Amino acid sequence: MNGDDSGRFIDPRPVDDDLRHEASLRPRTLAEFIGQERVTRNLAVYLEAARRRGRPLDHVLLAGPPGLGKTSLAHLVAAELGARLRTTSGPAIERTGDLAAILTHLEPGDVLFVDEIHRLGTAVEEILYPAMEDFALDLTIGQGPGARSVRIELPPFTLVGATTRAGLLSAPLRDRFGIVERLTFYGPEELAIILLRAAVRLELEVEPEAAQEIASRSRGTPRVALRLLRRIRDFALVEGNGRVDLPLAREALTRLGVDSLGLDHLDRRLLRVILEDHGGGPVGLNTIAAALGEEPDTIEDVAEPFLIQIGFLERTPRGRCATLRAREHLGLPGGPGGLFR
Ligand SMILES: Nc1ncnc2c1ncn2[C@@H]1O[C@H](COP(=O)(O)OP(=O)(O)OP(=O)(O)O)[C@@H](O)[C@H]1O
Ligand SMILES: [Mg+2]
Repeated sequence: MNGDDSGRFIDPRPVDDDLRHEASLRPRTLAEFIGQERVTRNLAVYLEAARRRGRPLDHVLLAGPPGLGKTSLAHLVAAELGARLRTTSGPAIERTGDLAAILTHLEPGDVLFVDEIHRLGTAVEEILYPAMEDFALDLTIGQGPGARSVRIELPPFTLVGATTRAGLLSAPLRDRFGIVERLTFYGPEELAIILLRAAVRLELEVEPEAAQEIASRSRGTPRVALRLLRRIRDFALVEGNGRVDLPLAREALTRLGVDSLGLDHLDRRLLRVILEDHGGGPVGLNTIAAALGEEPDTIEDVAEPFLIQIGFLERTPRGRCATLRAREHLGLPGGPGGLFR
């Protein structure tokens, strides 16, 4: 989390504290992975087909907002294949040579996980095309008129790419994924199950009603739910009797600044900018970002997907509009009408 965002408990992007805990809370088998049934059922079929054919699984692209389980699924795919997982990310691969080194060190059947794959540079991406298509690395040796191209065979492998911004992927790269799965926000019942399972691993007593309350305020995101649980555990330890019951969960969530729908001060400020300063919109993304002192990308990737999902925000060609539901939730007086739905 960046700068004055440090008080945001419902930011779906990982912070250090999440990363320390996430490895231990990750589901270990596909069966332990709660929700996203369409995705896991499809993957189970493709995995079984690959096993029966004795061929590596086709390349997989996992798309969706932060904290919904893309990295977890990549680990599970490798585990189900009994394969080794190699991990890298778009921003980490700066030069074509970096990627060539990774590819030439793969072993047959490896799963190569490339997080934030939309952030690969063009030159690096072009190395990936023949690697994905033909398991080959095309290298240019020398420069100018004497330059020649050599092709190196690579072991068969499976690329698993993850992206929060599928729209930013170039068409040639997207086309090279045989399997494209999109993760969606979780329902509160699914999040409650995830929370109760995590509670067992954390050796924490959590009442089912408390788990439901936390789940309903976690904006459909397991990472947010698990982070809230860790903070609430602190309240239970220091101010309660160690158990997480409904009153304690409610009190802690209020003190964390998370409202009944899981919105926090950034969401509320965002909606207020549109509703109070711009009559409900449309307002351009950059105008909103400037008013909030945030990066447009943060607004677009982190805050907006959930606000759109719950019907508080709409993206139109002319900018963002806040809805009547958002106005009601914030308790703002009715606007000039017309613009509001
Ligand atoms: N379906 C699930 N069942 C149980 N736990 C889950 C599930 N999905 C995610 N989690 C937990 O939520 C946390 C975040 O998941 P993960 O790191 O896989 O998200 P991500 O989509 O890769 O996020 P990012 O886009 O930020 O990389 C992890 O601790 C993981 O264990
Ligand atoms: Mg991830």
